[in-house]
Amino acid sequence: KHILLLGPPGAGKGTQSKRLAEEFGLEHVTTGDALRGNKQMDISEMDTEYDTPGAYMDAGELVPDAVVNKIVEEALSSADGYVLDGYPRNIEQAEVLSSITELDVAILLSVSEEELVDRLTGRRVCPECGASYHIEFEPPAETGVCDECGATLTQRDDDTEETVRDRLRVYEENTEPVVEHYRDRDKLVTVNGETTPGDVFDSIVDVINS
Ligand code: AP5
Ligand code: ZN
Repeated sequence: KHILLLGPPGAGKGTQSKRLAEEFGLEHVTTGDALRGNKQMDISEMDTEYDTPGAYMDAGELVPDAVVNKIVEEALSSADGYVLDGYPRNIEQAEVLSSITELDVAILLSVSEEELVDRLTGRRVCPECGASYHIEFEPPAETGVCDECGATLTQRDDDTEETVRDRLRVYEENTEPVVEHYRDRDKLVTVNGETTPGDVFDSIVDVINS
């Protein structure tokens, strides 16, 4: 299966794509995680405004296309079935993607802006194993400690309220046209992302199996 999860920051793309990858045996292709693992990589040779991916990420801006396209091309070259999370984020990336693979479906997780801000500012992540929590909606058993591996949880640098607002604006400007791109091509299905994680998952599975 070739699945794309679309949606604003905090919509639940990461949460749902991890589960989908497990359930259907798919490769989880996520540019966000790939870039977070390479925040300090030197990209100055690519003639970019900033010298590292991290500088763009901490400002809530998109990392240059050349950098992310390369990540996705490499990841997809070895993947059979996949769930894409966080890419494409602009029309140029959508065109690169369609030149290398064909999607079965693009699933848009729809969540109100107020809820997105609450989710992102309350998110805590495990620096060791990548598990994700929410201080109110998905708290770990022991406050501040990862259930999976016992490491101390941290907050993502871009999850401050100010940067969250910037990321939402970047989404509206750059990524909403991608939603329309897939709607025009009859690939888009919208799922209510504002129910519990389990209910959102069930709705996505229904779409995939239909
Ligand atoms: P990226 O890592 O992709 O971040 P994002 O798109 O902003 O998405 P998030 O990871 O913040 O949210 P999510 O939708 O995955 O939600 P999650 O499941 O975690 O990108 C980060 C940066 O990298 C970008 O700003 C950019 O700089 C760069 N980048 C990445 N891709 C790029 C590209 N293609 N081109 C250029 N630059 C790129 O859930 C959020 C929280 O809500 C969690 O705490 C979770 O526990 C909670 N939650 C989840 N579901 C529910 C629910 N149903 N009910 C209640 N709480 C829930
Ligand atoms: Zn952990």
